[in-house]
Amino acid sequence: MILFLSADGDDAGLLAELQRLGPEWVGRVERPGWVAVDRPPAYAAPPVLAFARQTLPGAERVAATSVSGWARVLAERIGSQIPEGQPWRLHVWPQYGERKVERMGARAWHSARRQGGPGPRVEPAGRPEVLAHAGENRCRLIVQAVRETLKERRRHVLKGLVESTDPWRPEEGAVQVVLTGPEQGWLSVVPAPGPFAWRRSLWPWPAGEIPGAVDKAAPSRAFAKLVEAEARLGRQLAAGETCVDLGAAPGGWTYVAAQRGARVVAVDRSPLRGDLLDHPRVRFQPGDAFTYRPERPVDWLICDVIAAPERTADLLLDWLRRGDLRWFVVTLKLKGPADHAKIERLKQELPNWADPWFLTHLSANKGEVCAFGRRREDLVPSR
Ligand SMILES: C[S@@+](CC[C@H](N)C(=O)[O-])C[C@H]1O[C@@H](n2cnc3c(N)ncnc32)[C@H](O)[C@@H]1O
Repeated sequence: MILFLSADGDDAGLLAELQRLGPEWVGRVERPGWVAVDRPPAYAAPPVLAFARQTLPGAERVAATSVSGWARVLAERIGSQIPEGQPWRLHVWPQYGERKVERMGARAWHSARRQGGPGPRVEPAGRPEVLAHAGENRCRLIVQAVRETLKERRRHVLKGLVESTDPWRPEEGAVQVVLTGPEQGWLSVVPAPGPFAWRRSLWPWPAGEIPGAVDKAAPSRAFAKLVEAEARLGRQLAAGETCVDLGAAPGGWTYVAAQRGARVVAVDRSPLRGDLLDHPRVRFQPGDAFTYRPERPVDWLICDVIAAPERTADLLLDWLRRGDLRWFVVTLKLKGPADHAKIERLKQELPNWADPWFLTHLSANKGEVCAFGRRREDLVPSR
């Protein structure tokens, strides 16, 4: 069985995306927020699932009554499935109780975020803080106990354990444990190169969630999308690089790029926040994002324009074809479920133009998905 954690608890969106893959990928809701595919095709390549926040390939139910019991069960499974000497990572996180899916309107979501609230995160039922805290503690103890047990019994396997949130490397394995209660949960052990093969929906953070970026000085909350895309890509904008920001106002993404030391041309019909207009590394270019062409290729195209998803997809593919960019982070706005299928074309096209590439619903996205990656280096520019 493959278990998927649906992005923002949107099971319907993930089920529809699986259904578009064909009958062998049809999923079912295991419990709210979790979608299972019971018999995935044996030799199929991992699919690209923008609405899966995390993937647990080969998930099985596990149970233990104490921390030391958990350590015994997990160490036994890890020792028998992760080859000695293979680097691997371990994620253990709690998800106690029913997954209550909160649906909030955009205004409520933004105001909850402004007040430091959780936004549309999925919370455990019951007394959420108490349960979450107890679960996190237990997970920490289990990790510690697994390490100790492996040290005694499978020292060479323990040596491979690495702590990192870098993108998966083909030689790495992954062990994920979700505690659905103190005494039960799911386990997924994936030796190399599984995590790399699943990299577009298996993220190197527990539950696939990245702690949200906070910066009160940013001109808009939208800046967090670019910061998260950089983290998932494993590459930030860097000092001295050139960047075009399409649909830049009021300037959250331009602010991040300029802070990193990049030189930015910011294109929008509306102006940027005043201080950014005066920034020495920012040039504001009033105008239409869809007709703007850079004078020469740039290091980064970043684009957060509000437009139909097929239009933005065409814009990105045009930039890639012309060789006008090296790296990209592009938001595709989706008006509703009817728009979801419109991202399929990018899944078909991006492998021709980019490596690495990702297409996913970011934790910071609301009614959007984000495409990010690097133009393939073996392609010659066509401009
Ligand atoms: C979601 S906002 C961008 C937010 C920005 N990334 C930030 O971090 O502050 C979308 C922007 O796209 C701009 N926009 C929409 N259509 C456009 C077009 N055809 N050309 C240029 N800008 C456009 C809007 O004016 C708006 O400022």
